[in-house]
Amino acid sequence: LRHFLSVEHLSRSLLEDMLDTAASFVDVGGRAIKKVPLLRGKTVVNLFFESSTRTRSTFELAAKRLSADVLNLDISKSATSKGETLLDTLRNLEAMAADMFVVRHQDSGAPFFIANEVTPGVAVINAGDGRHAHPTQAMLDMYTIRHYKGGFDGLRVAIVGDVLHSRVARSQIHALNILGAEEVRLIGPRTLLPVAAESLGVTVFNDMAQGLRDVDVVIMLRLQKERMDSAFLPSEAEFFRLYGLNNEKLRHAKPDAIVMHPGPINRGVEIASEVADGPRSVILNQVTFGIAVRMAVMSMAISGQESSQNPEQGEDH
Ligand code: CP
Repeated sequence: LRHFLSVEHLSRSLLEDMLDTAASFVDVGGRAIKKVPLLRGKTVVNLFFESSTRTRSTFELAAKRLSADVLNLDISKSATSKGETLLDTLRNLEAMAADMFVVRHQDSGAPFFIANEVTPGVAVINAGDGRHAHPTQAMLDMYTIRHYKGGFDGLRVAIVGDVLHSRVARSQIHALNILGAEEVRLIGPRTLLPVAAESLGVTVFNDMAQGLRDVDVVIMLRLQKERMDSAFLPSEAEFFRLYGLNNEKLRHAKPDAIVMHPGPINRGVEIASEVADGPRSVILNQVTFGIAVRMAVMSMAISGQESSQNPEQGEDH
């Protein structure tokens, strides 16, 4: 691994390696370990062109626990507001000896563009691009599922709500299929599901009771209004009535089903507080595991870059 831009096209063994590496950073209490020297002397730059609470903070914590120096560029106060181009911003940050860019951008494909432009040896991690991909979120979700369910064989996973605008769902679908989940279900109104969704290797349901029947994992998604045309905004009350997860609808899933959500949650829109704060919710555990998973991604990318600079030192994925 040299960059981590999407999970699509990666091998099962690489994804498993990532999960195993993350597990090596987690202590028995499930919290990430304090500090290891794997990125000592490296500089990680967080480049977030879109807002974030979880991803940005856990990338910062992960980089610090790997002993890297971390620079959080405040885009709203950076020289991009004076007309500096993305490329010129990058060149200047590279001149400060950045070794890794963690990029969130509202445009699909922006981290791929940056990965093509950076100096060899500099790694780029996609922290969410447009509605395209959010690969580290998908991997921390896979880590959470493996932690609670022991693996993916025979597992039925339902992804519920606004799949159409969700970069998280797209990455989760690829990761679940690569890791061998039995069935990935998408549940939502036709207007919020991708056209020809079945071609992604999923089964589609428009009814919650049918779609949730006997699933092991329920992943709820937020209505991503920032990516919707205002003329087509659904009514929150109607959406909650039909697709909001409450204890009554959760009864259709297996009795030991876990409930996940990438966050931020909108209580009373896609999920009721009784479920979000209930005994089957692992939503905050996902956040905790995110630190270890991002430590794994960053350490694997830096070691991949080092191998590619010194090919005799090891294999590059
Ligand atoms: N799940 C997620 O990406 O959350 P943030 O937008 O807070 O980073």
